[in-house]
Amino acid sequence: MKVRKILIAGNWKMNHTEQESQDFFRRFHVIPAPEAELLFCLPFTDLAVAQKAWTETDIAWGAQNVFPEDKGAFTGEISPLMLKEAGCRYVICGHSERRQILGESDEFVARKVKSTYLHGMIPILCVGETAEERSRGDTEKRLSEELDAVFTEMGADSLIEGVIAYEPIWAIGSGVTAKPEDAEKVALFIRQKVERQWGKNVAENVRILYGGSIKADNVSLFLQKENIDGVLIGGASLSPDEMTRIYKKACIKEEI
Ligand code: PGA
Repeated sequence: MKVRKILIAGNWKMNHTEQESQDFFRRFHVIPAPEAELLFCLPFTDLAVAQKAWTETDIAWGAQNVFPEDKGAFTGEISPLMLKEAGCRYVICGHSERRQILGESDEFVARKVKSTYLHGMIPILCVGETAEERSRGDTEKRLSEELDAVFTEMGADSLIEGVIAYEPIWAIGSGVTAKPEDAEKVALFIRQKVERQWGKNVAENVRILYGGSIKADNVSLFLQKENIDGVLIGGASLSPDEMTRIYKKACIKEEI
């Protein structure tokens, strides 16, 4: 029996205009159950729509990125204060698409994590290795670099409510997931590393997600694993029907 509450998180990436998101909200009828938390990380332009549609519900919404300063001359960026006011409970930090396409360094991602935390939102720190790193046997080395940068930046603070999403880069949008047993091994590695840094209590509370080609047909295989506390879902989260199926699977006790 897991002590940590399962988190089913959708990441819409750069999809769904305001109109399209309204359509999604109309067609999505899930009422979250106590077994699993439900979250959508939306484009900035959809946050106000979510706030309107979901304020009276238990569905959480969040952002996909943040700039680690409260305000100032940072053209095109968005501050944690703005996200907080838009009702975001979570912020994705360091998604591999931002690391790879926009060149975000481990240190910069770590600043985003700290800033999110300091503003009372929950960071979802994304970590993961490329196909080359994996074939060289460097998965743990790469994850250690990503995590150590966050440990350094956090200083004396720890992320007791934090979320770490293990997303092997080769599994994102590819239709090929990691093997659930391999993802479990990596999740355990992450938890042990968190324990060494922040102690047992934090390690037992931190939620570790798996992300990469999750859909309704495979989600249960991951949620059954001891150290996997939820999933981060890209493509499949764009469909209200598929997201409903995934959420329902997460709430079926026998399958977990
Ligand atoms: P995917 O994306 O589910 O489309 O593979 C996951 C992610 O990038 O968070």
